[in-house]
Amino acid sequence: MAVFSKVLGSAISLAYVVSALNNGLAVTPQMGWNDWNAFQCNLDEQLILATADVIKNTGLRDLGYHYVILDDCWSSGRSSSGQLVADAKKFPNGMKYVGDQLHASGFGFGMYSSAGTKTSRQGDNRRQHLRQLGVDYLKYDNCNNQGESGSQAVSSARYDAMEKALAATGRKILYSLCNWGEDSPWIWGPSVGNSWRITGDITDRFNTQSSTCPVPNSGGYGCSVTQILSKQAQIASYSGPGGWNDLDMLEVGNGGMTDDEYVAHFSMWSAAKSPLIMGNDMRKLKASDWSILANPAVIAVNQDPLGKAALYRWTHNNVQLWSGPLASTTGSSVDDMVVVLYNNGGSSTTASASLADIFGSSNVPNGKFEIRDLWGSRLSSSQAQAVLNDGAAAHSSWLYNASQQSYKTGLEKADSKLLGTAVGTVSGATGSISQSVPALGCRMFRLRAVGDSTTTTAKTTATTTQAGTTTTAGGQGPQQTQYGQCGGQGWTGPTACVPPATCHSQNRKY
Ligand SMILES: *[C@@H]1O[C@H](CO)[C@@H](O)[C@H](O)[C@H]1NC(C)=O
Repeated sequence: MAVFSKVLGSAISLAYVVSALNNGLAVTPQMGWNDWNAFQCNLDEQLILATADVIKNTGLRDLGYHYVILDDCWSSGRSSSGQLVADAKKFPNGMKYVGDQLHASGFGFGMYSSAGTKTSRQGDNRRQHLRQLGVDYLKYDNCNNQGESGSQAVSSARYDAMEKALAATGRKILYSLCNWGEDSPWIWGPSVGNSWRITGDITDRFNTQSSTCPVPNSGGYGCSVTQILSKQAQIASYSGPGGWNDLDMLEVGNGGMTDDEYVAHFSMWSAAKSPLIMGNDMRKLKASDWSILANPAVIAVNQDPLGKAALYRWTHNNVQLWSGPLASTTGSSVDDMVVVLYNNGGSSTTASASLADIFGSSNVPNGKFEIRDLWGSRLSSSQAQAVLNDGAAAHSSWLYNASQQSYKTGLEKADSKLLGTAVGTVSGATGSISQSVPALGCRMFRLRAVGDSTTTTAKTTATTTQAGTTTTAGGQGPQQTQYGQCGGQGWTGPTACVPPATCHSQNRKY
């Protein structure tokens, strides 16, 4: 499988041709919490366990946030046998104790490791160690890789060696690759891991254009939401069940963005099928942030059974259109569609997207689509505050419980908690959704085929002239060839493509 995917990897225009790592995990994007964004190196046992309590008591665990992941700095170094040793001041009861506590509360236990000197003996010890600790998730970073990067072959071999070690533990361990998008992990990652970061580290900013994202010859940091999306726009179609583009951990709740910006951040991470790993201080969880993280209609897009990331379509007046198929919730043979209008500009504006734009083709299904606003049923601040005060169990009728009914089943049953609110209907290739989009914010919709939607003959042949809407029928065509691969830093919309070979080499580090 690995060889197969490396060979294919040289073709840039892949669309959903992935050979997924077949470990049965991350069939939908993983969800959880990680300490890094809010705490960097300031983690300890008390923080981790207190956080898990909040995630459980406020219903977030039962909304699907399953993994509690310890990032860097839990260890004070390696033993002579190569095992990472827990920092005894931070974790006086050791790591197995933390894992046991998390398991007892119904969480998966995630840990972090970075590359280091490795020998086969150390490899054996580390394997044994992961099994003993009861680890369910490994985030494997790129620090100190001692030159083991610089080409797809070298990077994929390094990450593949760890994958073999994880498989040999006999435990099901979700494998999260974190090499900041170096050496194009979306190409070789699917056969190696369950997710792979596509850029340097996120920062709690909506649309700054930081020159540190990326730094030439390093992974970069300080990446804003918009900068990360500019990368995702070029490679969205590499995600699929079992292996996902990782847009990095969420910043919702860390205080650097407005409510509208956090809504847009969460909407886009969901539509992009990124892992949803919360990164906030749960002990200071605010009602408004909770009601973003707890919106089941948006999470259901992320956890959709089809596992197809929304594709970037165009930018008009600073508003980007992203859309892609979702499993039908009407029993129709026509898929539902997710539509996000993402406003990266400083003024609110009315944006229009035709069905031809949304489907990426003028050949749109006949019949009517119901438009559902996926933020229309966001819980009010007083409801959210009541959940934080009283606990989720006291208000379970307001919440979706994915431990009780999976998103897949809920969607099949068209559970009203997953569908937002109806705001109209649309039909025909030139029929359009026209909605006001807040400044530095977004609107997010689900289209559902209602009535006669089973034929596929185009009624009209609307021509879309915007650069970039050249996806094939079905809306899942090879975007990479159209946009080029050099748009990362400072990108604000489609760029003319430069020849793929040039793109590819310039893009090696990003
Ligand atoms: C969700 O459902 C599970 C299984 O029925 C139950 O144990 C749990 O308490 C429920 N969670 C909430 C927040 O009500």
